[in-house]
Amino acid sequence: MSEGTAYGLGVGPGDPELVTLKALRLMQRCEVLAYPAPETGPSLARGIVAPHLEGCTPVEYAIRMPMEAARFPAAAVYDRAASELGAHLAAGRDVAVLCQGDPFFYGSFMYLFTRLATRFTVEVVPGVAALTASAPILEMAQAASVIPATLPEADLTARLAATDAAAIIKIGRHMPKLRRVLDALGLTSSARYIERATLPEQAIRPLAELADDAAPYFATVLVHRRGGAVEG
Ligand SMILES: C[S@@+](CC[C@H](N)C(=O)[O-])C[C@H]1O[C@@H](n2cnc3c(N)ncnc32)[C@H](O)[C@@H]1O
Repeated sequence: MSEGTAYGLGVGPGDPELVTLKALRLMQRCEVLAYPAPETGPSLARGIVAPHLEGCTPVEYAIRMPMEAARFPAAAVYDRAASELGAHLAAGRDVAVLCQGDPFFYGSFMYLFTRLATRFTVEVVPGVAALTASAPILEMAQAASVIPATLPEADLTARLAATDAAAIIKIGRHMPKLRRVLDALGLTSSARYIERATLPEQAIRPLAELADDAAPYFATVLVHRRGGAVEG
C-alpha cells in the first residue's frame, strides 16, 4: 500500500472567499483534516473553511496548543501530532493541515513540516497572508519589517527605529509594551490597529484611538513613518 501525502494548506486571513482553488480542492478530498486550535475553544482555521466543508466527512484532528507566545513552540504537542498524523499517512490516507494565512509565513505548520517531511511526502499550498490583506502602502525604495511584539522592549525599540514601515504581529498581552515603545519613538500617531482582518468582526482604527490595551492574538499594528499614504 502506498503512503498518503500531507498537505499544508493556507486558508487565508479569515474571509472564506480568500481560500485558493487548490487548497479548496485538496481540503475537500483528503481523508484526514487537521488544524491548530487553542487549548479550549474553536479553531480559527477550521472556522474559516467551515462553509466549504459542508457534506465532507473527513476524520478531524484538532492540534490543540497554547496560543500564548511565551509557551511556543510546544514540542510535545507537535511530536504527538506528527506521530498520530504519521500513522494516517503510513496507512495510505492523505492528510490536509489547515493553516491560517500562509503556512510558512510565521505559521506553526513549520513545526509539523520539520517532523513529517523526513518520513513522508509533504506539499505546501501557499495562502493569502494576513499581512497582505492589510499591508502598508510602500514606495519602492522603502524598507518594511515584520516584527513580533513578543520581542524584548529594547529589541522592539531598535527595530522600529530602523525601519520605514512595520507590521507588528502577535500583539495580545504585549500591547502595553508596544504602546510604550511607539510613544517613545514618536510613532503612535503613525500606527494603525487591525484586528481580525477580513472577518465579519474586523476592526481597524488609529492606535491612538484605542480605549484600552486589550488586544486579541489575531491583531496587527501597522506603522508607517509618513502616516501611510504614498505621496505623488
Ligand atoms: C503566528 S502569525 C501567523 C500568520 C499567518 N500564517 C499568516 O500568513 O497570516 C499570527 C499573527 O498574524 C497576525 N494575524 C493573523 N491573522 C490576522 C488577521 N485576520 N487580522 C489581523 N492580524 C492577523 C496577528 O498579529 C497574529 O498574532
